[in-house]
Amino acid sequence: MTILNPNTESEYAAERTFVKSYLDRVPVSSAISDAQADVLKVKIKQLLAERNAVLVAHYYTNAQLQSLAEESGGFVADSLEMARFGNQTDAETIVVAGVKFMGETAKILNPEKTILMPTLEATCSLDLGCPSESFSAFCDDHPRHEVVVYANTSAEVKARADWVVTSAIALDLVEHLASQGKPVIWAPDKHLGNYIQKQTGAEDMLIWDGACIVHEEFKTRALEQMLHLHPEAAILAHPESPMAILEQAEVVGSTTQIIKAACERPEGKFIVATDAGIFYKMKQLAPEKEFILAPTAGEGATCRSCASCPWMGMNTLENLHETLLNNLNEVRVDPVLCRKAMLPLQRMLDFRQSQTA
Ligand code: 13P
Ligand code: SF4
Repeated sequence: MTILNPNTESEYAAERTFVKSYLDRVPVSSAISDAQADVLKVKIKQLLAERNAVLVAHYYTNAQLQSLAEESGGFVADSLEMARFGNQTDAETIVVAGVKFMGETAKILNPEKTILMPTLEATCSLDLGCPSESFSAFCDDHPRHEVVVYANTSAEVKARADWVVTSAIALDLVEHLASQGKPVIWAPDKHLGNYIQKQTGAEDMLIWDGACIVHEEFKTRALEQMLHLHPEAAILAHPESPMAILEQAEVVGSTTQIIKAACERPEGKFIVATDAGIFYKMKQLAPEKEFILAPTAGEGATCRSCASCPWMGMNTLENLHETLLNNLNEVRVDPVLCRKAMLPLQRMLDFRQSQTA
């Protein structure tokens, strides 16, 4: 297994410090009451209709936003299906509740549409950990390699890639490339990269050293102990989790894939290693089942994320309302960059299409 990071240790440590200082600045979202939420939801639905806008939300956003997306004719999904939906809707404006790369992906695939986000500050540790200049230089050093990047990257990194993938199709795509004997650069999530390499046996795969701060916190020993307490439970894990967690899981998959597994598998109890926002949809689709959050590094104040992505948490009904009311937070991507980044994104959608055909 090859893990490469062209950054020196100290540069990587600097990136981590940056992520930490960023997180310390991120305001903790204040949950509002159901009654207040209902009032805001009515106003937001009206604004969405007036603007011919549709709300697309990720499974990790809060339950109020997810339910609003569903009630207003929008969509709640994983990052792949969010991209597909955005590409197919007739709405003039797409409002993306999620993180920066999701808004940028919507803009790249729909340059003629207006893309708004409740906040433009919500980023992702994977995106932050893969600066386009050093990544591009790394690719230049390995010209034979097919460049496959995870969707959780900047528009610049996507523009340098041959393929963009999400966790829903990463395994299939690398398998496809490996079967053609193609060497691969994978970036930026090392845990997903290691998992793919193990599953596919891809021999020549260079893996960037990035990680998701939320999934990286799941703890192996504590998970074993939890399973001891609930031996009848099945473990469902997102592939951004460390390998020792994935090795214990019955199902490893994208957010949509693990929700589907929770509905279709025979077990009545699941230990879930991903962001806790996913429980809204799991409980909605399988109300008779029990879902337990996999243990993280610490409790309360001692854990960095507590299985709750701080950037996803920056999306609220309040800032969504402000955005629509005052026409704020439009996602803009340089048109030249858009055209370059659209190619590997469109290849991802075409590959997905060819799988379902
Ligand atoms: P999905 O593609 O599974 O929705 O995951 C996106 C993400 O950011 C996971 O942390
Ligand atoms: Fe990024 Fe992790 Fe948050 Fe997903 S959960 S958006 S990978 S930081």
